[in-house]
Amino acid sequence: MDRLIIKGGRRLEGKINISGSKNATLPLMAATLLCPDTHRLTNVPDLRDVHTMGNLLATLGAEYSLKDSVLEINTSSLKEFKAPYELVRTMRASVLVLGPLIARYGMAEVSLPGGCAIGARPINLHLEGLQKMGVEITLEFGYVKAKAKRLQGTDIYLDIPTVTGTENLMMAATLAKGTTRIENAAKEPEVVNLAEALNRMGARIKGAGTDLIEIEGVEELRPLAHTVIPDRIEAATYITAVAITRGEALIEGVKPEHLEAVIAKLRETGVEIKTEKDKIFVRADDRPRASNIKTMPYPGFPTDMQAQFMALMSVAEGTSIIRETIFENRFMHVAELRRMGADIIVEGSTATVRGKEKLKGAPLMATDLRASASLVIAALVAEGETIVDRVYHLDRGYEKIEEKLRAVGADIERVRI
Ligand code: EPZ
Repeated sequence: MDRLIIKGGRRLEGKINISGSKNATLPLMAATLLCPDTHRLTNVPDLRDVHTMGNLLATLGAEYSLKDSVLEINTSSLKEFKAPYELVRTMRASVLVLGPLIARYGMAEVSLPGGCAIGARPINLHLEGLQKMGVEITLEFGYVKAKAKRLQGTDIYLDIPTVTGTENLMMAATLAKGTTRIENAAKEPEVVNLAEALNRMGARIKGAGTDLIEIEGVEELRPLAHTVIPDRIEAATYITAVAITRGEALIEGVKPEHLEAVIAKLRETGVEIKTEKDKIFVRADDRPRASNIKTMPYPGFPTDMQAQFMALMSVAEGTSIIRETIFENRFMHVAELRRMGADIIVEGSTATVRGKEKLKGAPLMATDLRASASLVIAALVAEGETIVDRVYHLDRGYEKIEEKLRAVGADIERVRI
């Protein structure tokens, strides 16, 4: 088990290079199941979740190798169609293999993901959509058992614009007979990146990035060869880290257009942000001003940045109201921030943050990926030393986090215990 030891008080200054997006990579890896061949993805981050998905594909009979951000996956000879509980419970995005397996092989068995730290996270919308496409689904012993002849194109309305639900159904529809329309679809950049990749494989998808995605089924697809988009949440996390330390940095290898809501809110707090094609310049000279946020589906303020923004507001001038509308339990970081002296009151899905002049370092426990990032951000500005335990949560979604932060002046080290 690793832990991070951080001594606060250093200004972050310099350049930070952003890695490929975890949440774009995972569906792209699942998409390789749609075509039994060798596939190649570039700009792939070396993350725990990427290896979890790689291991899942390997249990199905695929082979994968990740070297210098290039991911090769060979799905020519699958021999298994079951995603086991041991893997699925560590990463709910495993459910993304369901759509492709059903579409290509007509059968799949995927463990129900079970809850996770941030909520129950059901997959009813994934399953209802697949049933509408003609998939027979039974639930047995905690597993979703699915089988189908050729999927049928149909109209699907999503009650909630679920990101992986949209991705699962879009992948399934690529090989269906006829056209599928997904209404109230998720519009995240990762959905658009997946649609672009599928179209390069020979799929016929229109409307990705809007509420209505239309997929005209085809007989078969070609191998995937695609570049993963930059990780907008990693970028936003580092921008917030620079801001809280009143530093100055150039964030490189990023798509600013994917971060508009976060940039707007950070500017509201007084952070100076300038954007170019693939760079973001960030600088903060003073204590941030309080600002309210409400998490929303893209292009609204991303739930994956709520915890990090709360860390910044913990030292802001004034009181901020933070509303979490996507997940029912995404305030696990509050108790830990309070241990550092933050003044936060939670009532239901709303947190009231009264900014403090100073936070104090403390021994902390990471609970989920983005909560861990929030603790690191707070530790960078807290007085004294902070220890963050269970760093494996961070390793799921942040590539070389201590190296990237140390390179811009943070006093941070990883120790094995
Ligand atoms: C994706 O999760 C992301 N993960 C999450 O990022 C992100 O927080 C989330 O979208 C919201 O933006 C990946 O892309 C791999 P949802 P996903 O389905 O698809 C409810 C991170 O930190 N819902 O859009 O699982 C659900 O409970 C992770 O990188 C149903 O009720 O999220 C939630 O309240 C964390 N039924 C809401 O919809 C369903 O069938 C949004 O969930 C599906 C979802």
